[in-house]
Amino acid sequence: ETKTEDFVIHEDMIKDIFRPREDFSHKGTYGKAIIAGGSYGKMGAAVLATKSALRTGAGLTFTLAPKCGYEILQTSNPEAMFIEGGNDFIDHFETDEHAVCGIGPGLGTIDETAKSFLTFLKNYSKPLILDADALNIISQDSKNVKIIPKNSIITPHPKEFERMFGATENSFERLKLAKNKAKELGIYIVLKDHHTQVVTPEGDAFYNITGNSGLAKGGSGDILTGILTSFSAQHYSEKEAAVLGVWFHGRAAELASEKHSKESVLPTDIIDEFGNVFKELN
Ligand code: APR
Ligand code: MG
Repeated sequence: ETKTEDFVIHEDMIKDIFRPREDFSHKGTYGKAIIAGGSYGKMGAAVLATKSALRTGAGLTFTLAPKCGYEILQTSNPEAMFIEGGNDFIDHFETDEHAVCGIGPGLGTIDETAKSFLTFLKNYSKPLILDADALNIISQDSKNVKIIPKNSIITPHPKEFERMFGATENSFERLKLAKNKAKELGIYIVLKDHHTQVVTPEGDAFYNITGNSGLAKGGSGDILTGILTSFSAQHYSEKEAAVLGVWFHGRAAELASEKHSKESVLPTDIIDEFGNVFKELN
């Protein structure tokens, strides 16, 4: 058993990871992000994740969603392109080899979606960002975790983590289990919590200390998925994207709550602060 290490994510670490935009560059330099999610009644999750990917600098952003979200998505995010994945829910997934795909926000778990997602997963070998209902679908059968592509980033909240890997007594035991699973499966696990932990395939943990209870609201997780997908698309390594992403998400929440209060702040307001976080880093 090799020793694993725990770190706190410091601003110095973030400044080392962050790369300012280059003058001699074009949209191709900053990658392709695809958000796959949304279903009838849960299209907002796909809207938020997509907006978040756009506002964190991806060169091209797409939303793969069902047809019932077409007008909603094109109206709320005119900069993003639409890929039709079904009618009222997604029943086929597609991607291109150059894109990074974030799957799950508002996806739903009905049989057709579950079946097509698991088939896609079996045949896909590049790292993915997996969240929310993508994780809930995987949890339907304990064997499914083995088909998560190596180096993928999964972002479970405590309940989703429990559904995937089983219950634990406390957050210390949960972290221990996450380290074992991250090593065994060769994936990054972002354990979302008040102090979110990024667990690497080596079993190391990076604690995030930005963020606050203004994030305790539906939609906060969806914007994290957008951030992680966008940073991965921009050629940050999975580890860099995860560490930078959780820090960035929390920092934006701090700025937005100063303006709006923790009670009133919305995920949309948090996205509106992304620019100010970039200004701090640049
Ligand atoms: N302090 C700091 N950060 C917090 C706090 C807090 N008190 N509460 C929440 N957060 C952060 C978490 O660390 C995480 O990054 O906000 C985010 C919440 O993510 P989710 O729990 O996934 O919340 P949400 O966006 O509501 O998820 C939407 O998807 O996961 C499914 O079923 C779930 O309906 C839900 C939907
Ligand atoms: Mg969530």
